[in-house]
Amino acid sequence: MSKVTVIGAGNVGATCANVLAMRKVASEVVLIDIKEGLSEGKMLDIYQTSTLCGFDTAVKGVTNDYAATAGSDVVVITSGVPRKPGMTREELIGVNAGIVKTVMGEAMKHSPGAVFVIVSNPMDTMTYLALKSSGLPAARVFGMGGQLDSSRFRCYLAKALGASMNDIDGMVIGGHGDTTMIPLIDKAAWNGVPVAQFAPKETLQKVVADTMVGGATLTGLLGTSAWYAPGAAAASVVEAIIGDQKKLIPSCVALNGEYGQKDICIGVPAVIGRGGVERIVEIELTADEKAKFEASADAVRKTNAVLKEIGAL
Ligand code: LAC
Repeated sequence: MSKVTVIGAGNVGATCANVLAMRKVASEVVLIDIKEGLSEGKMLDIYQTSTLCGFDTAVKGVTNDYAATAGSDVVVITSGVPRKPGMTREELIGVNAGIVKTVMGEAMKHSPGAVFVIVSNPMDTMTYLALKSSGLPAARVFGMGGQLDSSRFRCYLAKALGASMNDIDGMVIGGHGDTTMIPLIDKAAWNGVPVAQFAPKETLQKVVADTMVGGATLTGLLGTSAWYAPGAAAASVVEAIIGDQKKLIPSCVALNGEYGQKDICIGVPAVIGRGGVERIVEIELTADEKAKFEASADAVRKTNAVLKEIGAL
């Protein structure tokens, strides 16, 4: 028996709940939102796909009723407003900080032992806020961004190389922002062989650039931010937790000296299992990657500083 709560019944939250049900990740999935009827409607719709997709996950949608989320093993927070075209993720901080802090507090009361996965943007700062305001151990509060960015990276790489995307390995570390994320192109590989052996530098640099604006490109096309990949990426992180998979997933975690950083939540490779963040893995970075990581941390810190300015922390 396992129970997952997804907070926020917007596109990302609902997609996450749908993937969790379809992949039979948990025996029970609860979707909760403040908007009357929204979660109920979306979960009823998902429920009606049970026979079509062959799952028997118990799915439930509720309005503001946190008692229904009690005893969750994992809580995914997707609440908040999404980006509009031309906006950065960082511009959402004022509105989303209040929302994330509130829902985190409510969810914790009913599921004090849960692992919390933060998806709301600006994700690195929202994770820092959720961790600091909750007082929970760092292993049990972390953010999902690297899994999504790495998926986009691998897809773009596969396309550029004419390869199967499932043959491509690659990670994106750093902040989950258009200018702060770091696709680790020198470490990316096609079945273990460095990608530099298959494509010229310019092609690979374009893959990096496309990855970094992967979310912004979609926001431009859709008029709001993406949901299929973000929702599926969040669900796959939940799967790693529930299934105790020990997957190496670039995740937004609290650093305490690792990578030369302290008092920050930012994307680095971490082993994700039933305990949440079970281990932070320090991989060797090139001088260029190190410099980019430091710049990324500076940018995330600047956004974190806004939390104090607006009184959220
Ligand atoms: C994205 C948003 C959800 O990257 O952060 O699509």
